[in-house]
Amino acid sequence: MSTQFYTTTPIYYVNANPHMGHAYTSIVADVMSRWAKMKGQGAWMLTGTDEHGLKVYEAAVARGLSPQAHVDETHLRFKVLLERVGVAYDDFIRTTEPRHKEVVSAVLAMLWERGDIYAADYEGWYSKSAERFWTEKDLKDGKCPDTGGPVEWVTEKNYFFRMAKYGDQLRAWIADHPDFLQPESRKNEVLGYLRKDLGDLCISRPATRLPWGIPLPFDPDYVTYVWFDALLNYLSAIGYHPDPARCAPDFAEKWPAALQLVGKDIVIFHAVYWSTMLFAMGLTPPKTLWVHGWWTVGGIKMSKSLGNVIDPFLLCEAYGADPVRYFLLRELPFGGDGEFSHPAFMTRVNADLANDLGNLAHRALSMTEKWLGGVVPALDAPTEADAALSALAASTAARFRAEMDALGFSRAFDALWELIRAGNKYIDSQEPWRLNREGKMERLAGVMRHCLEICRVASRLLAPVLPNKMAELSAKLALPPATHLDGVDRLDGLSTGAALTLGEPLFPRLLELPAAVQEVLTRVAAEAAEEKKPMSEPVETPAAEAAAFVPDPLPEAIEIDAFGKVALRAGKVVGAERHPKADRLLVLKVDIGEAEPRTIVSGIAAHYSPEDMLGRTIVVVANLKPVKLRGILSQGMLLAAGGAEVKALVTLTADVPPGTVVR
Ligand code: MSP
Repeated sequence: MSTQFYTTTPIYYVNANPHMGHAYTSIVADVMSRWAKMKGQGAWMLTGTDEHGLKVYEAAVARGLSPQAHVDETHLRFKVLLERVGVAYDDFIRTTEPRHKEVVSAVLAMLWERGDIYAADYEGWYSKSAERFWTEKDLKDGKCPDTGGPVEWVTEKNYFFRMAKYGDQLRAWIADHPDFLQPESRKNEVLGYLRKDLGDLCISRPATRLPWGIPLPFDPDYVTYVWFDALLNYLSAIGYHPDPARCAPDFAEKWPAALQLVGKDIVIFHAVYWSTMLFAMGLTPPKTLWVHGWWTVGGIKMSKSLGNVIDPFLLCEAYGADPVRYFLLRELPFGGDGEFSHPAFMTRVNADLANDLGNLAHRALSMTEKWLGGVVPALDAPTEADAALSALAASTAARFRAEMDALGFSRAFDALWELIRAGNKYIDSQEPWRLNREGKMERLAGVMRHCLEICRVASRLLAPVLPNKMAELSAKLALPPATHLDGVDRLDGLSTGAALTLGEPLFPRLLELPAAVQEVLTRVAAEAAEEKKPMSEPVETPAAEAAAFVPDPLPEAIEIDAFGKVALRAGKVVGAERHPKADRLLVLKVDIGEAEPRTIVSGIAAHYSPEDMLGRTIVVVANLKPVKLRGILSQGMLLAAGGAEVKALVTLTADVPPGTVVR
């Protein structure tokens, strides 16, 4: 049985810039890891980046870089982010590191030798337009259900992991380990999934289609499916090797992990694929797999592809990491979805941090400085009010601990804030200014000591969440930064006579949004209003999309001069309207440096409104023979990613004169 509190986050895709949703999982892992350390447990926190797969490959090619050079650069954004949000990870794994690739190869070789991986023909209806396989029952009138395009029967050799073989073991594991899947609603989702027949898992991709991945050790014509590769990071990072002689001696101190955190979009990958992979390796699943919800903006999942991301770099720069960490944990009941809004952020920070906690600390420290020489005053004989406060402190600590252990952050804060608010009320009712006036100095000392003690308790309990601010508070109270929880249930832990430091208030009130934040807010609100996508509508997630994605086979190579026959030009969209006869089409006027703008009819209306298009610089195929589309002559074509369904336009990163050659 493992002795360390080993916490993991999903490893992040490096093909987009990190946003607040990514920061969130790592912050939670960091808080839980720090919390375990405070409780006296050894703890180890792992995070990292997922660097193989088609999207990364395509992003690298688009930049004209080798995939390795691309990921060497992009993964750094994630490291910087973690530093900015105060995540003190113990290890950061990249799936392109030799230590990871070796383990993936060794695991594959072992499973192949044991017969848990086999080769078979993969058959299905392949839709070129949707770039994926469908089963017979998925098809709509014999066509691709997504795009309405034609499908063809394709047979392709691939390698499969015998996942189905471990289905019963997984069902039994879930039944026998009630803490394994949390929260309960997610357990039900997984059980629902397991009620269907569990198939085997295709774990290979032909290297001809995807050259960026870990080669299968038993067939170099194939690379490892990116999820099979990525999931193994949780083991490769802590020194696992299937050969016991090569396994790190302290591996068993960490595995099974105490806590694996994942977002709700990747629950099946972890609860089912990962667990069955572990069974096949002869290992047990983590003690707890905790599934959290999504941060939304304007009711829509915050995601790079939707453009509604909250930039964590900007937020931390504007407010500092600690208030951001507090807000993220306070506002979203862990497991559910939560809306990120700047006004809500300001209200929460002002109310809880500036008014309640900050105020208590500042009042206690400034009155002690003014009337009691700025040193920790002695306790006097406790009054009834003191006893009530002490009793509340004891029950608060117990509630806080229990809630934190169960990742119930907002309820843990509810408990602690009862004590903090009681401290502020206690000042009002005890009237220290009157005690000072009447010369009742012993009682005054006792009152101030109680308030300072509440601040001490907060500086310990909140240290995992607000590490910088609580270190500051500790210093003001003449305490070292918190490393344990001793004495958090009692109001008598300070050293009488120690010199206090008043200094500046811990949390200044946020009066108005910084201009940079205001700008983002206005843009996001406008975009959200335009999209008006309700949360209930299933949003295809990047992970699900990636899992379903089967890339188009490449046609045979062409000579450079064949490509040279295509005249690509930069074009500026100077007019855009909907096609009067077709919902899917926009009619664009595009300036490509000729006397008159061209008319181009394009099937992008499902993704782009006319307003979206106006003023954009796009790439146009300028020498296509004109063609009539639903009655309007189209004099060219614009470049976009996707199959029949357009996913993203090709645009230029800087404005160049219309007509500039693109090659
Ligand atoms: N690379 C895979 C994970 C492989 S783990 C072996 C992946 N990466 S991801 O970058 O797309 O997502 C990583 C995590 O960020 C997921 O847990 C996902 O749920 C989380 N979030 C991404 N957007 C989010 C929000 N808007 N809100 C909260 N978390 C979200 O999936």
